[in-house]
Amino acid sequence: MTIISTPGELKNYLKDKNQSIGFVPTMGALHEGHISLIKKAKSENELLVVSIFLNPTQFLKGEDLDKYPKKDEADKKICELSGVDVLFFPQAKDMYGTDEVSLQAPHVRGYVLEGASRPSHFNGVLTVVMKLLNIVSPTNAYFGKKDAQQLNLISLMVKQLFMSVNIVGVDTVRQSDGLALSSRNVYLNEVQRKEALKIPSSLHLASRMVSRNILESKLIIESMREVLEPLEVAYVEILNREFELAKYVEIGNAIIIVEAKVGSTRLLDNIWL
Ligand code: PAF
Repeated sequence: MTIISTPGELKNYLKDKNQSIGFVPTMGALHEGHISLIKKAKSENELLVVSIFLNPTQFLKGEDLDKYPKKDEADKKICELSGVDVLFFPQAKDMYGTDEVSLQAPHVRGYVLEGASRPSHFNGVLTVVMKLLNIVSPTNAYFGKKDAQQLNLISLMVKQLFMSVNIVGVDTVRQSDGLALSSRNVYLNEVQRKEALKIPSSLHLASRMVSRNILESKLIIESMREVLEPLEVAYVEILNREFELAKYVEIGNAIIIVEAKVGSTRLLDNIWL
């Protein structure tokens, strides 16, 4: 595995490669969810590039940037063992200057759900993803469906800015009890981890209701909120794949999405039906 730390070196390294490139951008603290993105990218491309960059611009003041889990050496080992060809490991000073051009998330889709409580979060995500895609010029770039709003906005950016990369959404990986894997799960103590199971349980209930042909969003959301009590729920919504609120679940075109706080940890989860 080749480890590269500056954008210039990476562009130079990749420029004469006549191979399909799979790219998995991450912020490190890699877990099975990232490994499933890496495996998929490995199986679908000739060359595999992974980046580890804890992007400061997507964290708002007072968020967990300083305590975000960091496991650099373990992450490198995981990448090596997973067959990553190139690991891009830049510093913030290599990615950002002092007077920066930055992308603005769309005014509707970028400022609902997670964007409502984290107003500049998606500007930071889109800006760094644009930078990374420009550095790597991948054939395919892989993102988890767990961050459904992020995936939707990145797909929209690629479409609206006429970029040629193919964006691939990858299914969420769960622990055996149903909790979706997230780098932030390490913040949970034993009691909180149990409480956090209310999130996948609420989604499980939603899918059971849909399978019984109860399709009205309002009814499903009310039942989910009961399961989620007493967690501090940021939102529970039913959307179509265009990320518009849906009054009824339309199978094949629905995402049921939850964000709730367990202690001070925000956890996101969703199911695609
Ligand atoms: O999902 C993440 O880990 C990050 O938001 C991403 C896409 C790597 C951008 O920093």
